[in-house]
Amino acid sequence: MDAKSWDERYRETDLMWSAGPNVFVEREVGSLPPGRALDLAAGEGRNAIWLAGRGWEVEAVEFSPVAIEKGRALAGRANAAVTWTSADLTAEPDLASADLVLHVYLHLPQPAAEHVLRHAASLVAPGGTLLVVAHARRNLTEGYGGPPDPALLPDPDEVAATVAAAGLEVEHAGEVIRTVETEDGPRDAIDVLVRARR
Ligand SMILES: C[S@@+](CC[C@H](N)C(=O)[O-])C[C@H]1O[C@@H](n2cnc3c(N)ncnc32)[C@H](O)[C@@H]1O
Repeated sequence: MDAKSWDERYRETDLMWSAGPNVFVEREVGSLPPGRALDLAAGEGRNAIWLAGRGWEVEAVEFSPVAIEKGRALAGRANAAVTWTSADLTAEPDLASADLVLHVYLHLPQPAAEHVLRHAASLVAPGGTLLVVAHARRNLTEGYGGPPDPALLPDPDEVAATVAAAGLEVEHAGEVIRTVETEDGPRDAIDVLVRARR
């Protein structure tokens, strides 16, 4: 999907994603000491705003102007200092390295997906952490939600191999279950979670 299509999606609802952070971001990052964080494909900034509230200096990178506008408003209401950068990540924008790089539910076709993931890994400062969270390929047949195209869905081993090849030490790579409340009751969504350090 290009930035215009994302703009249309973001215009359809007040809040497309949750107000609070993603459950795995909260769990994996909550105990890290604050530093500089990069939230790649930040959407409406739910994770960026949460990090800023915990003392992180956050740069949120996003290519949808509508998402950025919504994120700015949400951050303002939360009194959270988030710097917003408008950039297409497939162009590998020039960004300063960070102690934490978030790559959360960014689903791209190959080869862009691998290029952007490598770029994300290259932005991790020494001692820093990369957190990748994504709808798993297995989610398509056994889980709930996420993009319907298997070509956009990663497998944990592939993500781990890419970030290891980019020089990071993989601390965890696997699938995790996220419970989603639906009209038909709770459903399990299967996500990929990869955490790596430089
Ligand atoms: C599923 S949303 C996830 C948003 C956010 N990470 C979260 O978890 O709330 C995916 C986001 O990626 C952004 N995106 C997709 N392709 C992008 C690209 N090439 N460069 C920058 N942002 C992109 C979309 O605009 C959208 O906001």
